[in-house]
Parts: sequence; structure tokens; C-alpha cells
Amino acid sequence: MSNLFQKPLFTYVVMLFFIVLGTGVLLIPFTDNYLALAIVLTIEYIIFLNMISYFSRILIKPVEKAIDTMEEIQKGNYGVRLQNGPTMVGTLNTKINGLASHLNQLATKKNLRLEQLNTLVNNTESSLILIDERGFIQLINTKFINMFGGKAENYLSQLYYDVLENEACIKAVQKAFVSENSIKESFTHYIGIKKLYYEISGIPIFNDQNNLKGAVLVIRDITDLKKLESMRKDFVANVSHELRTPITSMKGFAETLLDGGMSNEETTREFLRIIYNESHRMQLLIEDLLTLSRLENENFRLVLNTINVKDITQDIIPTFMYHAEAKKLTLHVDIEENVVFKADKERVKQIFINLIDNAINYTPENGHIYLKVEKQEEYVHINVSDTGIGIDKEKIPRIFERFYRVDKARSRNTGGTGLGLAIIKHIVEVHEGEIEIESEVNKGTSMHVYLPL
Ligand SMILES: Nc1ncnc2c1ncn2[C@@H]1O[C@H](COP(=O)(O)OP(=O)(O)O)[C@@H](O)[C@H]1O
Ligand SMILES: [Mg+2]
Repeated sequence: MSNLFQKPLFTYVVMLFFIVLGTGVLLIPFTDNYLALAIVLTIEYIIFLNMISYFSRILIKPVEKAIDTMEEIQKGNYGVRLQNGPTMVGTLNTKINGLASHLNQLATKKNLRLEQLNTLVNNTESSLILIDERGFIQLINTKFINMFGGKAENYLSQLYYDVLENEACIKAVQKAFVSENSIKESFTHYIGIKKLYYEISGIPIFNDQNNLKGAVLVIRDITDLKKLESMRKDFVANVSHELRTPITSMKGFAETLLDGGMSNEETTREFLRIIYNESHRMQLLIEDLLTLSRLENENFRLVLNTINVKDITQDIIPTFMYHAEAKKLTLHVDIEENVVFKADKERVKQIFINLIDNAINYTPENGHIYLKVEKQEEYVHINVSDTGIGIDKEKIPRIFERFYRVDKARSRNTGGTGLGLAIIKHIVEVHEGEIEIESEVNKGTSMHVYLPL
């Protein structure tokens, strides 16, 4: 049947002509009226021609069209449609149209899924590749390409061990395949001179029958996590060290007193004074640690109130005047009237205290300290400057780190905890303000804090 439809129409016309001619030759012995025979045969030929044309129109042509349409569908063009009709071919067309429309729906769904998958894969924070059970890379995301270089086509449909250069990646896939279990490892990778830490996971994939179908390799940048971890370790080490110093000292003096040192009243007084000072230092340190911990707590909320700068300064300036005088320093105060802004009063007070405290501590006798507060566009500008020892340019970026002191012994002697500026930085940040510093060794330091109005 299919052969029949594949013959061109012209072949049928010629074949029919010869059939009619053959019939004529067979009928010649039975008639002498050749004219009538010719007329009958011609009419018969015309009738047959009409029949061919009719069948061609209603059967062959539509079937040919249906075949063309099926070929288009095979190529993936699911948008093609055929005209419906009353005949059997019409029914066939309806079925073909239904098939095309179904395939179209499936293709749309598949494309949508693929698009969703691509979006997901390319927007994850991790680098990712998918490897089939034969070891060929089937999917790769942009992050992976950015990390190791090259283009997607350098990796896709290639054997993973041929194209992956990183040993850790190859080993992770191999282990996932061999053990058929998820594995996790870490490695370091350099981008230029930057050392980055990564965690690599090899996850085997199974189908419904529990057969291994491939593996996914996920690489996560854990550099920040590592940094945080090392910061935490440093912090614990620093706190322990800071606490050990006064405790060792207190224990030593108490021991000496217990071992007979109390016989001399003057020594006893001196030792008790040292023990008192050390315990006071410990108290200050613990208070600063608690303040920092409160500021860093996720649940920390600022208590915002409309405050006048004078409300803060009038509480603290008398005490600082006294401290400054005791150190033969002059404290100059210049505070603009009616500077009103929204802030957490106790926290902002802490900024003033820590800044003036530093200015007093790091300024030798006969020096000057200036406290200036003024309104500036949309900020309150707090400026504490001194004529003190100043800070080396190279050290300036580090002074906001916890426990960092330019001169450890000096800071300790003045009762510093090494946390004052770290606390200020936090308070300024939570107020969405800014802090700037100008300093010159042996000339002095000027600290500027800007808090939004
Ligand atoms: N006004 C200043 N003049 C000179 N150095 C300062 C001044 N303020 C801060 N520093 C330096 O910054 C370090 C950190 O300050 P801070 O966090 O307040 O800790 P500390 O408890 O040591 O005062 C100080 O140890 C000191 O070296
Ligand atoms: Mg300080």
C-alpha cells in the first residue's frame, strides 16, 4: 500500500493508457467497427483518468501531505497541523494533529523544566557538574566554569578524568562511584594569589531500581567560614590570654601574702592594692566582652530615642574634666546647641567615653584634648582630637580589631582592654554611621564619628 502511494501520478496515467491500449488490442478480433471501439476506449480512458484524479485528490494527496507532516513532527516541528475532513484520511489527520499537539505540550513542559533546572543550577552558590554512569559530563554550571576556566563545550560530553584538572574533584567522583555513598572533602584553590577554601561533595545518583546512574559534584566556597572559624579561635585564645595575665598576677600576690607576706603591713597594703587593680582590670575586660557580645547578638535591637547631644555630654564631661586635670591635660569642649538626633543614648554615650578615654590615655602631660560636636548636613559630627602620641599609618587599619594595641604595655598600664574601638565600630555600624581617623605619630590623633540625624 505504501509503495502504491509513493508512485508519481504521471506513472498511473501512463500505466492506464497502456491498459486501455491492451484492452483495445484484445477486442480488435471481435469487432470491425474500429471507430466505435476507439470511442468506447477513449471514453473508458477518460473515466479512468477522472477516477485516478478523484482518488488522487481524496486519498493519495492527503496521505502524501500526512506523510510530509509526520516527517516534520519527526524533526521536532510540533507546530504543524493538518486539515480535518470527513473521510478516513480526515480521521487520520485528526489523530496526527492530536499527536502533534500532545508532543507540543510535552516539549513545552520539557523546555520549561530544562529552563527551571538551568536557572536553578546556574544560580546556586556552588559549582556543580553532573556526570553520567559512564563518566561523561552531562551538565555543568557557570560557577564551575568561572572557577576552573574554559567553556561549557570543553567539558560537556567529555570524560570527567580527561577534562577535570583538579585532583580533589577527580578523587571525589571516583570515591562516590566506588563507594556508592556521598563523600565530603575539602581542598584549597588559588585564584591569582588569593587562597580559597572549598568543600567538595560527591553524591551518587540512583534510579528507581537502585542502579547507579551517575554522580553530582558540588563545590562550595567555605573561605568565609574558615576565616570566621579562625577569628573565633583567635578570639578565644586572646580572651584566655587577657584573663590569664591578671589572674596569674593576683594568684601570685595572694600566695606571697599567705606564705607570710602579711607580717609587713606596708607590703600587705601594696599587694592588696595590686590585687584590687588587677581584679578591676578583669572586671573592665569582662564588661567590654559582654558589651561586644550584646552588640553582636542576633536579637540585639537599638533603643532609638530622640536625644539631644547635651543630654549625653553633660553626664560624662565632669568626670573626664577631672581625669584630664589629674593628668595635667586640658580638655576643650565645643558642643553645638540643640543638636537633636535619633539614637540609642547609652550606646552613643559609650562612643564618647571610649574616644575621650583613649585621647586622655594616649596623650602625655600638658597636652590638649578637643571635643567638638556639630550638625553637618544629615549627620551629627563627633570629633575627638588630641595632641598625643599618634598612631603609625601602617597600624591605623588594625586599631579597630579586637585586642589590637599599638603598644601593648602602654595600653595595659592605662587600664585599656583593647576592645574600646572595636565596640565603637560596632555601635557606629548599627547606627548606620561612619568612623574616620587622622593621626600622625607624636603630633596627635583626630577621630571623627558621623551618625545620621
Ligand atoms: N587617641 C589615640 N592616640 C593614640 N593611639 C590610640 C588612640 N586611640 C586608640 N589608639 C590605639 O588604638 C589601640 C586600640 O584602642 P582601644 O580599642 O580603645 O583599646 P585600648 O584598650 O588599648 O585603649 C590602642 O591600644 C592604641 O594603641
Ligand atoms: Mg581604649
